[in-house]
Amino acid sequence: MTLHNYDIKDPSLAEAGRQRIDWAGRQMPVVGLIARRFGDEKPLRGVRISACLHITTETANLALALQKGGADLLCCASNPLSTQDDVAAALVDYGIPVNAIKGEDEETYYKHINTALEHRPQLTVDDGADLVTTMHSRRSDLIGNVIGGTEETTTGVVRLRSMARAGKLRYPIIAVNDAQTKYLFDNRYGTGQSTIDGITRATNILWAGKRVVVCGYGWCGHGVALRARGLGAHVIVAEVLPVRALEAVMDGFQAMPLLEAARVGEVFITTTGDKNVIDRAHFEAMKDGAILANSGHFNVEINIPALESMSRGKRRFRDYVDEYELPDGRHLYLLGEGRLINLAAAEGHPASVMDMSFADQALCLEYLARREKALKPDVYAVPEEIDQQVARLKLEAMSIEIDTLTPEQEAYLNTWEEGT
Ligand SMILES: NC(=O)c1ccc[n+]([C@@H]2O[C@H](COP(=O)([O-])OP(=O)(O)OC[C@H]3O[C@@H](n4cnc5c(N)ncnc54)[C@H](O)[C@@H]3O)[C@@H](O)[C@H]2O)c1
Repeated sequence: MTLHNYDIKDPSLAEAGRQRIDWAGRQMPVVGLIARRFGDEKPLRGVRISACLHITTETANLALALQKGGADLLCCASNPLSTQDDVAAALVDYGIPVNAIKGEDEETYYKHINTALEHRPQLTVDDGADLVTTMHSRRSDLIGNVIGGTEETTTGVVRLRSMARAGKLRYPIIAVNDAQTKYLFDNRYGTGQSTIDGITRATNILWAGKRVVVCGYGWCGHGVALRARGLGAHVIVAEVLPVRALEAVMDGFQAMPLLEAARVGEVFITTTGDKNVIDRAHFEAMKDGAILANSGHFNVEINIPALESMSRGKRRFRDYVDEYELPDGRHLYLLGEGRLINLAAAEGHPASVMDMSFADQALCLEYLARREKALKPDVYAVPEEIDQQVARLKLEAMSIEIDTLTPEQEAYLNTWEEGT
């Protein structure tokens, strides 16, 4: 098959990409099982799907599963810096058009999203909601084709819920992020490990003894704080929600306002999904040599325009490390241009954890395709049976057995009559 609707860096990287996709696939047994069933049953036969995702080895395994299920799939990047160019080349080789080039500028990024829309999807897969919001704002003529969609990340779900509240969302979307088999593992252990990995690859710093400030103690923040502590760092948490700040304290971390933490921190990591969390006043208070990294979805958590305007000089020190020189001679180091550091400077989440997130994705797409247009426009939870099924299959793949309720226990847990 000759593909035409793709735009990648270099087709000759395909062989390297294939091998890495295969390696990831070996740690994605649940997606593998679903792919085999999809191959037999073809639940997505002829369904046009546009997937706006980080183009990584794990995404490639999801894409191949959807292709086996009969989908007519096209992929584009969900972030300008997260594409693995060899994976993009391999997917094109497998017959899946990909529009994604690592380091693409904003214009190219949106050109690629536009190509994904031109595919006239019946199902959309999004990570951050750029595909869905672009369709609603610029290509609403295409919405009539759409059965539904899925959303991978917290920030995307926040945006979609805001669209739904405003009465602007015009088709149903399943919030894959909010499945327990997604956020408890991907956001926590995946982001935790891969964020530390990205910062280590970019800087080669020693974590032991470092004062690390984690901004936002949500599921990603939990993971980052946990893993930084595991390497011997002294972790400080900056939060705005009292319950989460309290949780951080009882988990054994220090909590304080960011302005206070700015004076003592050596590495700052944002995981909030919010804007200008690290701002001018914080840069002014930071020590010489402070390292700034973001693992939240968009590159707005660190106020980079403010840092640029405050600095008298800037240079690329090494890959993914920009040195900013302030007028008083202090230097601050911004990693990965403030984009999610685990995908910019490392390989993103380990395949084993994406196995669950992408199993949820594949099963939710099958669920939507089977229901055709039965759901009204809104943001939906992942069906409980899908969440439990993914957990069960993951345990099986890990050769872990668990207990089941006895009939007596089942009855007891469903009654109110029995007391003391
Ligand atoms: N890097 C990755 O691969 C990856 C993976 C999953 C999610 N994400 C993204 O990471 C971000 C966080 O996701 P999550 O699931 O942890 O979200 P979450 O909603 O569970 O947690 C975010 C936390 O940040 C806090 N917060 C908001 N504004 C703040 C501020 N100004 N100062 C301090 N704390 C603040 C909130 O109170 C909340 O506790 C989102 O943008 C999400 O899309 C990234």
